[in-house]
Amino acid sequence: MSFDRSIKIAPSILSADFANFGQEIQAIEAQGADWVHVDVMDGHFVPNLTFGPPAVKAFRPHVKTFMDVHLMIAPVDPYIEAYAEAGADMITAHIEAGPHIHRTIQAIKAQGVKAGVALNPATPAEAVEYLLDMVDMVLVMTVNPGFGGQKFIHSGVEKVRKVRQMIGDREIHIQVDGGVDVNTAPLVAAAGADSLVAGSAVFKGGSVHAPEVYGENIRAIRAAANAAL
Ligand code: DX5
Ligand code: ZN
Repeated sequence: MSFDRSIKIAPSILSADFANFGQEIQAIEAQGADWVHVDVMDGHFVPNLTFGPPAVKAFRPHVKTFMDVHLMIAPVDPYIEAYAEAGADMITAHIEAGPHIHRTIQAIKAQGVKAGVALNPATPAEAVEYLLDMVDMVLVMTVNPGFGGQKFIHSGVEKVRKVRQMIGDREIHIQVDGGVDVNTAPLVAAAGADSLVAGSAVFKGGSVHAPEVYGENIRAIRAAANAAL
């Protein structure tokens, strides 16, 4: 996939119907999703549990766009190969998940997949400075990771602006994850984010039987973000 900084909407399937992932993925893609965001949680780094590698492998054939796997797990390194083999197009690991994020990013790249580094709300932008020549994406969390449907933490907007300045003309995406909706998407888009994760704001009101609602939600978030550029 060639690099571009246009706004990409990445619905988080954490807000999908857990009994129906295949159809949910097909529905959001048919309704305009650019990427599919998969939230992996371990009940240790974050207080919630979600998808192991076999679940991600089962999602893979349904994803025709780009499977963006957000690992909220510690340790990370022992599981990178399994998530790459499950079919991730990009694997994002948290800087807070261990002492050796540089090694973790090297291990992700060694699998031949794109690599992202995620920052929790309290982690400063400067923490990614010496990773910028190796990552494909910086993920700025605008909630504390673990659950969908939380309130957007506004200090993330300034952090996105700083990361955008640090990146310069390198081909690195900036993703924002947590509380993104029609009100907050313009703030982060104007600050320089190009990949917007949205769980509740995409899935609210819709279902595989009413997928057009997903489309309305995706278009509304995209339009709000683009209007701020
Ligand atoms: C939070 C996850 C997010 C979350 C976003 O730990 O990483 O991807 O599902 O959900 P909303 O958009 O509802 O805040
Ligand atoms: Zn996420």
